[in-house]
Amino acid sequence: MKRYKHYAESIRFKRQGGHWRPIVTDSRLSFAGEGRSAAVFRIADTNKALKVFYPDKVHIAKEEADIYRLLSGIPQYPTLYEAGGTYIVIDWVEGRTFFQCLEEGIDISTRHIQEADQALLSARKRGLNPSDVHLRNIMVTSTGSTMIIDVARFRQEKDCMNWEDIKTAYSVFYTKPFFPKRWPKRLLNTLGLLYKMRLLPVHRTAAKNPQ
Ligand SMILES: Nc1ncnc2c1ncn2[C@@H]1O[C@H](COP(=O)(O)OP(=O)(O)OP(=O)(O)O)[C@@H](O)[C@H]1O
Ligand SMILES: [Mg+2]
Repeated sequence: MKRYKHYAESIRFKRQGGHWRPIVTDSRLSFAGEGRSAAVFRIADTNKALKVFYPDKVHIAKEEADIYRLLSGIPQYPTLYEAGGTYIVIDWVEGRTFFQCLEEGIDISTRHIQEADQALLSARKRGLNPSDVHLRNIMVTSTGSTMIIDVARFRQEKDCMNWEDIKTAYSVFYTKPFFPKRWPKRLLNTLGLLYKMRLLPVHRTAAKNPQ
């Protein structure tokens, strides 16, 4: 029996300004965040998150569910509870993404970076190839541990340097005393864009020092 299917089916999406906007009618679902593939909600009175994929991205639901099954038991990844044609249900992670930490000036410690690094290594040991690891896909929990919350692209074949570049930026810039710990969202988004265009020095440093 699919326990959470009716929640997923209650979400409708509307195309608006080139983006999918979720229409929420069930008061037990509270919007938590969105990305390029899905919108995420917390299910009231549970510790579970519902990720509902956009109409043109529903094929990712099964892929992400399969990957969560392969990662099962590694503490830095949410547990998968249910998967359907358009959605998955995973652990709700109370905390902030690395992106939100930068926005709010909350310290990202070396331990958080090491924990994420360990988690990605554990995924590799299970035959996966973590891709698309960016600042909105890693969280610092309210108890101070690190969680990786978006694994949909962990079976991509091409090697992704995102995480190596984040580590480079962290050690070369973030850990320096003069480096600001709080950044306006718009500036962070602009930096993200420049990064995608390969216009930030982190790429070059990572290329010189492959790890
Ligand atoms: N389990 C969770 N607990 C708490 N918040 C979450 C959880 N999963 C996702 N979120 C929030 O929802 C946002 C979007 O989720 P997610 O990264 O899974 O979507 P996506 O469409 O796959 O993203 P991407 O653009 O990286 O492909 C996250 O950045 C985070 O803020
Ligand atoms: Mg994401």
